[in-house]
Amino acid sequence: MPVKNRLAEMHGDITKWRRHLHAHPELLYDVQETAAFVVERLKEFDVDEITPGIGKTGVVAVIRGRQDTTGRVIGLRADMDALPIEEATGVDYASIVSGKMHACGHDGHTSMLLGAAQYLAETRNFDGSVVLIFQPAEEGGAGGLAMCQDGLMERWGIHEVYGMHNMPGLPVGEFAIRPGALLASSDEFEITITGKGGHAAAPHDAVDTTLVASHIVVALQSVVSRTVDPIKRVVLTVGTFVTDSVASNVIAHTVRLQGTVRTLDTEYRAIAEERVRRIAEDTASAFGAKAEVVWTPGYPVTVNSDAETAYAAEAAEAVAGKVNDGTDPIMPSEDFAYMLEERPGAYIFIGNGDTAMCHHPEYNFDDDAIPAGCSWFAEIVERRLPVA
Ligand code: NI
Repeated sequence: MPVKNRLAEMHGDITKWRRHLHAHPELLYDVQETAAFVVERLKEFDVDEITPGIGKTGVVAVIRGRQDTTGRVIGLRADMDALPIEEATGVDYASIVSGKMHACGHDGHTSMLLGAAQYLAETRNFDGSVVLIFQPAEEGGAGGLAMCQDGLMERWGIHEVYGMHNMPGLPVGEFAIRPGALLASSDEFEITITGKGGHAAAPHDAVDTTLVASHIVVALQSVVSRTVDPIKRVVLTVGTFVTDSVASNVIAHTVRLQGTVRTLDTEYRAIAEERVRRIAEDTASAFGAKAEVVWTPGYPVTVNSDAETAYAAEAAEAVAGKVNDGTDPIMPSEDFAYMLEERPGAYIFIGNGDTAMCHHPEYNFDDDAIPAGCSWFAEIVERRLPVA
C-alpha cells in the first residue's frame, strides 16, 4: 500500500500551509501565531478536542476513532519552532522575518501532522484515539519536556508515541530508523580558569591562564580516547576559548572555555561530567590556578523502543515500499527524547533529498515529502488501532 490517495489529493493544500508557516517563522516558546494557525486548521477538520497552552505554547488535540473498544491511545508529535538564522534560499515564500528561519523543517513536520489530522478526522478508520502533539521550543528550549511536565502523557492517557524528522541526503519518500539509541544526548560545560594576569615579559610574576587552559583543552581530549569503551560513542568538543587579555604582551587573568559532550550511552553522561571536572580542577591546581566548572545537562539520548520501532518501520515500508531499519545513529540531539523517556515509541527519519543540511541558511524542506510523511502518521494509527 503506497501513499494514501486522499493524502496525495491534499498535497497542494498541505504545501500551502507549509509555505505559509515557512514565511512566518517563530522561535522557541514564542510560537503563538504558529499555534493559532494549527488550532484554526484543527477546528476546520472538526477534531474532538483542542487544548492550547500545554508546555506554554504547545497544542494538544484528540481525534476519536469510529469505535473505541480497546481504550488505546497513540500520540503523534510534530515540532513548530524555527531558528535564529537569516534565510538564504531565495524561494518566493522565504521568511519575511529578518533573522528567523525554518532551517530545520519543523514547518514541514507541523504541516504533515496537520495533513494526517485532516485525513484521520475525515476517515476515523481506527479503534481508539489519536492525540496530536504540536510542541514549541524543540531547538534548545526543551518544549517537549515542558509538555511532559504539564502532564501530557497522563492527562491524555497516551500509551505509545511517534515522531518524525526530515533528513537531507536521504531520498525523498524514503524512511530510515533503528531500534535503540538514534540521536545523542547533549550536555554543555563552561570552565572558568582564574590565575594571575601580568606582563608578558614577566611570566614568573603571573599565573598564565592561557597556558593552563591549553593544557586543559588537550587533557579533555583524553576523556573520550582513554575513558570510554572504544566501541561506545561519545564526542567531546571544546567550542570556545576566550581569554581576557587584550594585547600580545599581556598574560590573561582568566580564560573561559565552553564545550559540549554528546553520547549515545546514557551511562557516559555522568562519567564524562566527573572526568571533565577532575581534569579541569586538578590541571588548574597543578599550575597554581583555579578552575570552576559549570555543567548544564541538555537533552537525553533519543532511544527508540524495540516493538514500536518495528511498528514504525512496517508502516514506513507500507508507504514507501521499503525502509532502512538499521540506519546509523547520529550525534545531534532531539527534544522528542523526553517523550520517549515517558512512553514507548519511535522516531523516524524521512528523506528530504539533495538539500543543504538542517540549520544551514540554504536548507529547505522538500514539499514532495509531504504525502509520504502524512501517510506514515496515518498508517501507524490504522495499523496499531485496527478496526475489527
Ligand atoms: Ni529539527
